Amino acid sequence: MKDKWDSKKYKSISGLQGNISNELISQLTFKGNYHVLDAGCGTGDLTFKVAGIVKEGFVLGIDSSPSMIEKCNESLQSKNLSNVRFITKDINELDFSGEFDIVYSNSVFHWVKDPVQALDLLYESLKLSGSMGIQFPLLNSLHPMIIVFNKAVKKLKLEDEYRSWKFPWYVPASDDFKALMEKKEFEEVKVYKKSLDFNYGKSINLYKSFDSAGLGVFASVLSKEKAEAFRAEIKKEIETLKNSDNSTVSFERLFALGFRKLTNR
Ligand SMILES: C[S@@+](CC[C@H](N)C(=O)[O-])C[C@H]1O[C@@H](n2cnc3c(N)ncnc32)[C@H](O)[C@@H]1O
Repeated sequence: MKDKWDSKKYKSISGLQGNISNELISQLTFKGNYHVLDAGCGTGDLTFKVAGIVKEGFVLGIDSSPSMIEKCNESLQSKNLSNVRFITKDINELDFSGEFDIVYSNSVFHWVKDPVQALDLLYESLKLSGSMGIQFPLLNSLHPMIIVFNKAVKKLKLEDEYRSWKFPWYVPASDDFKALMEKKEFEEVKVYKKSLDFNYGKSINLYKSFDSAGLGVFASVLSKEKAEAFRAEIKKEIETLKNSDNSTVSFERLFALGFRKLTNR
């Protein structure tokens, strides 16, 4: 299958995601000897950060994109870390059983083909009473990428092209995601939405961020010519998103936390 991720493009904007992953990581209690799974590790920035916390433990980063894992391994070579490993693996193909103290997944679940199964497999990966933290953006009509997409489609009269198109991202309601976790017997489940600022500096950075996060998916529906016009229009529409400081957009993210049930309690 074609790898739709370009690790170089993602690396150039992933630093901007910093404050978002901090919120997730700050809610998980790491101990120095913990075994941790980073599900959908991307270019590995967060995985390396966590490896620095669990110094006597271990972090495994998995990602379905070979390009991302290649980038992780390249970065690993220049670091003095022996407690990190990366493998190419789809979250829907996880086959761990009770191996991790913490599993987390940052900005991945919106892409996942079968999120219900992914949640099951993350649960199975956890040790008893191990904890899970998930965060992902909600690509609803308030998301800036969806706003500029809708505007560009209207402006370029592309409605027919998208009429039978199936929206590819997972956008659950918080209550539904909570219900899924409780059905799987996660305990102390906490699911909430939070709007976080994304500070992108120059507008080209926001374009690059959208480009790494889904513009290609929208554009794949179009002919080459129309896709070019569409991308140019998106660049223009991004300018219209500017607010008072010219470089921040805000959008909702879903946070989900819970523990694997401790049986025989
Ligand atoms: C927005 S990036 C986030 C990367 C990283 N977690 C971070 O915080 O920077 C999304 C990542 O999810 C990965 N991904 C998407 N679907 C996946 C799946 N089904 N299984 C594993 N990884 C997946 C992509 O390859 C990409 O690296």
